[in-house]
This record gives sequence, structure tokens and C-alpha cells, in this order.
Amino acid sequence: MEGFSSIRFFASPLILLAISSYINSSLAATPNKPSTEFIRTSCNSTTYPKLCFTSLSTYTNLIQTSPQLLASTALNVTLSSAKSTSVMMVNISKSQGMSPKVVAAMKDCLEELSDLVYELNKSIREMNNVKGSNF
Ligand SMILES: *[C@@H]1O[C@H](CO)[C@@H](O)[C@H](O)[C@H]1NC(C)=O
Ligand SMILES: *[C@@H]1O[C@H](CO)[C@@H](O)[C@H](O)[C@H]1NC(C)=O
Ligand SMILES: *[C@@H]1O[C@H](CO)[C@@H](O)[C@H](O)[C@H]1NC(C)=O
Ligand SMILES: *[C@@H]1O[C@H](CO)[C@@H](O)[C@H](O)[C@H]1NC(C)=O
Repeated sequence: MEGFSSIRFFASPLILLAISSYINSSLAATPNKPSTEFIRTSCNSTTYPKLCFTSLSTYTNLIQTSPQLLASTALNVTLSSAKSTSVMMVNISKSQGMSPKVVAAMKDCLEELSDLVYELNKSIREMNNVKGSNF
């Protein structure tokens, strides 16, 4: 069960950002602001602002001041993290001498990650279908 909460902890900031950037889309109306400021301001309203900012500031040029691109990038970054965490977990699970308890916890964790990847994939597809004023 430990795996459950740690994965949720890991992934939730960006998911929350994706959601809150819908709510806070009015922030995008501020013109001529440096786009790191846009990301910083948007990340300010998330549970883990620093993690949010460091994860997304790499994409400043792509995101500009678009709440749509911000949300889409947040989902993509989260998906890519979930996938690489999955690979890492499979890798670790191949090491010898782990107790059955640890093996069981890792299995739970991998299941949870697999669900997360599936849900994120769906969200990303949905996001691509939402266009214009509908956003
Ligand atoms: C973010 O929040 C902190 C305090 O929590 C504040 O000092 C800072 O000015 C805020 N930054 C932006 C860009 O809103
Ligand atoms: C996120 O990923 C999807 C699918 O790969 C892609 O269509 C979309 O352009 C990406 N969004 C951004 C902001 O990179
Ligand atoms: C998997 O483990 C090997 C060594 O056992 C390591 O070289 C490799 O970088 C690991 N890959 C990941 C994604 O953790
Ligand atoms: C989502 O899953 C489908 C089917 O497995 C795949 O073709 C697509 O590339 C995935 N999209 C993303 C953004 O990973």
C-alpha cells in the first residue's frame, strides 16, 4: 500500500495543475508577461509549486502564456514521468533477495502506475479534442 500513496504524491501536483489551469485560465489574459512568470503564477496555486515550476519551466517557450498548452504539457510531463517510473520499478523488481512483502508492494505500485498511464493517456486525448472557446 505504501506504493499507492507515494505514486499519488508524485503525480498529483501536475494533475492538480492541469485542473487548476482550467479554473485559473483568466490568468492568461495578462499580456506581455514573461512566460516563466505565467508558469510560476499558475504553479503558485498548486499543492507543490516548486516541483510544478521545475517540471514545467523547461517548456517556457512552448507554453508561452497559454493555459491550454500549460495543461497539455503538464499532462504530457506527468505521463512521461509515470512511464519512466514504471520502467524503473520493473528494473528494480528484477533484483534478487527482496522480501515477499516488498515484492507485493511493488506489484501494487506497478498496477497503480499502469492505471495512471492509462488515465493520463485518455486525458491527453480528451485535451486534444477540446478546442477554442470550449476550453
Ligand atoms: C507566489 O506565492 C508567493 C507566496 O506564496 C508570493 O510571494 C509570490 O509573489 C507568488 N508569485 C506569483 C508569481 O504569483
Ligand atoms: C502532448 O502529447 C500529445 C500526444 O503525444 C500531443 O499531441 C500534444 O501536442 C502534446 N502537447 C504538448 C503541449 O506538447
Ligand atoms: C536498469 O538497471 C540497469 C542496471 O541493472 C541500469 O543500467 C539501467 O540504467 C536501469 N534502467 C532504468 C530505466 O532504471
Ligand atoms: C495512448 O495510447 C494509444 C494506444 O495504446 C497510443 O497509440 C497513443 O500513442 C497513446 N498516447 C499517448 C499520448 O501516449
